[in-house]
Amino acid sequence: MLKHISSSNAIVLVLLSFSVACLAKRGEEGAKRGEIVRKIIAEVGPSAFNYHNTTLCNPQIVGSYDACFNSGIRAVGNVDYNLTDPMVTFPVGGEPWGVSLTGPYPDGVTYRISWQTGNHSIGPLDTLVAPDTASMTPVVILTHNGKSIIHKGTALTYKRAYTSAALQSLDYLSPVINHVVLPNLKPGKKYTYMVGMDSMLSKSYTFKTLPLINIYPLRVGLTADIGQTVNSTVTRDHLIASKPHIILNVGDFSYADDYSVTTCDSPFGGPGGTCQPRWDAFATLWEPAWSTTPVISSAGNHEIEYSGINATLSPYDQVFSYPDNYPFLAWSSRYPVPGIVSDFGNINNNLYYATTVAGKIRVIVMNNYYAFGPGTMQYSWAIDELLNKFDRSVTPWLIVMFHSPPYHTLFTHYKEMDCFMSVYEDYFYAAGVDMVLNGHVHAYERTHPMYKYEEDTCGAVYITIGDGGNIEGPYRAFVDQLDPLNNNASFCSELSYNGMGPNENLAAGKMWGPSYQTAWNPPTCQTITFQPSTSVNGGAPLVLMTNSSTLGFCQNSQPLWSAHRDPSFGHGILEILSDTEMTMTWNRNIDGIMSSADGVKLSRVSGCDGKRKSMLKKLRRQSRKM
Ligand SMILES: *[C@@H]1O[C@H](CO)[C@@H](O)[C@H](O)[C@H]1NC(C)=O
Ligand SMILES: *[C@@H]1O[C@H](CO)[C@@H](O)[C@H](O)[C@H]1NC(C)=O
Ligand SMILES: *[C@@H]1O[C@H](CO)[C@@H](O)[C@H](O)[C@H]1NC(C)=O
Ligand SMILES: *[C@@H]1O[C@H](CO)[C@@H](O)[C@H](O)[C@H]1NC(C)=O
Ligand SMILES: *[C@@H]1O[C@H](CO)[C@@H](O)[C@H](O)[C@H]1NC(C)=O
Ligand SMILES: *[C@@H]1O[C@H](CO)[C@@H](O)[C@H](O)[C@H]1NC(C)=O
Ligand SMILES: *[C@@H]1O[C@H](CO)[C@@H](O)[C@H](O)[C@H]1NC(C)=O
Ligand SMILES: [Fe+2]
Repeated sequence: MLKHISSSNAIVLVLLSFSVACLAKRGEEGAKRGEIVRKIIAEVGPSAFNYHNTTLCNPQIVGSYDACFNSGIRAVGNVDYNLTDPMVTFPVGGEPWGVSLTGPYPDGVTYRISWQTGNHSIGPLDTLVAPDTASMTPVVILTHNGKSIIHKGTALTYKRAYTSAALQSLDYLSPVINHVVLPNLKPGKKYTYMVGMDSMLSKSYTFKTLPLINIYPLRVGLTADIGQTVNSTVTRDHLIASKPHIILNVGDFSYADDYSVTTCDSPFGGPGGTCQPRWDAFATLWEPAWSTTPVISSAGNHEIEYSGINATLSPYDQVFSYPDNYPFLAWSSRYPVPGIVSDFGNINNNLYYATTVAGKIRVIVMNNYYAFGPGTMQYSWAIDELLNKFDRSVTPWLIVMFHSPPYHTLFTHYKEMDCFMSVYEDYFYAAGVDMVLNGHVHAYERTHPMYKYEEDTCGAVYITIGDGGNIEGPYRAFVDQLDPLNNNASFCSELSYNGMGPNENLAAGKMWGPSYQTAWNPPTCQTITFQPSTSVNGGAPLVLMTNSSTLGFCQNSQPLWSAHRDPSFGHGILEILSDTEMTMTWNRNIDGIMSSADGVKLSRVSGCDGKRKSMLKKLRRQSRKM
């Protein structure tokens, strides 16, 4: 049976401005509550769709003028902590370390606490012997209102060849990874906990479960591509200061796979590999944020750790069951998705999921690095979630999260997601997705509500928040900029995959995007699209379709659908105010947390029901035929 989506609740987002009075009031209230005063500096005018803002790369922040235009130049100071740095080291005598909190699970009252014990080990291939985790009993001592309960969990380890397939010579055996599921917690309550094993207990941590009634205002922290540099720490500390009730983390965690085959000391130092100890360092660095606030995440490309995978990946791989080096292995073992209560390290359990935050916010988490086309398991699951399982009268908000952004204007990863969107955008539109959260592109970009490259009050707002501070640096160039280091050629004309530009790829029937992504695409997917020049300055698009004088691959200035873009590091905060209103603020690291570089109020208006309903009907009919 298909559930009916109430038409009176059909949804649209429009952009409203913060009035000056409203700002002043927020400021006073904020100060009274002892919270951070947010100065909203980007005001949206009476016609929200007319708002467009571009901040260009600041040479002082990335280190030089040339660094703004040459991604080969590393951004200044943006390096991972030395593995011996106290910020990322951990005790190896059996004390718990790297504690994180995951949830809420789909029932809204279950959470999970995860941590590590002991050290990893590294040794010649097939010589490392895993400890007997089956005989271990990790526990969480959970205290609420003076009453303590002991919850027992599961311990596991994972092993993977430490180097690339070509040079397999070392194994990495993880520390013991512990997961304890905490069912039936009281909503909206403060809990303290200690974790441990064999009487070796941690310090005491505190967190608050998400409320299920009177949930507003609810603060949701947004991060992605966070990594483990000094810049990551700034993002982390600003995020903590923003006091979110929950963190949505849109993937790319440790960047362990940015390290060379032979060493953990130098990133980008040779053929691809993965430095698994970087996952351990990462767990330590993020504990202060993740042990005290529940986190839900999606997997990014850096979770695949493709290098060394002994498997052929095809668009229709449905279950991973390879002899060695599973994709997503470190991620699945360490940060299983909410919903899992056993068999934690099984990658097949951890690729996509949906959960409900505070009873009102449905979050559907997809994986664009796993088979997603029609006929795949992810597809059947996702369209069922979107067409049948979502009921707006129960959960007024619908957020979809996956790593790679469909709509952004940065040079790197431009238009990588056209295939994915050709499969899913109509479902998003018909279901009335309010917001799509993405990372991957190391910059901030917010779109107006949109659909198929055009502003559309009935479409979703796309937020790219991939600027958490990772070692690869902020992205700095927009496709519509000219490249002064290359005779002012447009960056658009420098775009290339398979050694060719968009037209050549189109002619050759090739896909647009890196192989680890196109490998999961439906084989016949159209991945290269062209649009008319709907940009702030109009004019001719920068790279025209070979057979058209009006359709372009990139526009010649910020596209009309792009509201605010800025190539800097930071984090986001969604403050959900009611069933129909939320504010989105983006907090750049360089401003500190006292002011926000983008702030906007998003509010539902009516008027999309007809359009939605007919599309929904059509898609449901199609899905029944499949
Ligand atoms: C554009 O955003 C920047 C911060 O990213 C801000 O300083 C500037 O005032 C904004 N411009 C407008 C016109 O809102
Ligand atoms: C990263 O941190 C370094 C050191 O504090 C700083 O110089 C640099 O500007 C930061 N980078 C960005 C993009 O914020
Ligand atoms: C890491 O720090 C140690 C101690 O300060 C130092 O000896 C070592 O050279 C550093 N390694 C790198 C790669 O910077
Ligand atoms: C943890 O194990 C690694 C790899 O075997 C080793 O280099 C490191 O010294 C160990 N750490 C401690 C604190 O013993
Ligand atoms: C992958 O593993 C299988 C089974 O162990 C083995 O036969 C095959 O040679 C391996 N392939 C590569 C490329 O290592
Ligand atoms: C590129 O454009 C800038 C700004 O218009 C101009 O100052 C510069 O001379 C141009 N450089 C080249 C190589 O044409
Ligand atoms: C240009 O070529 C594409 C692909 O071959 C085709 O789909 C499109 O209809 C053509 N457009 C025009 C304006 O001829
Ligand atoms: Fe990424």
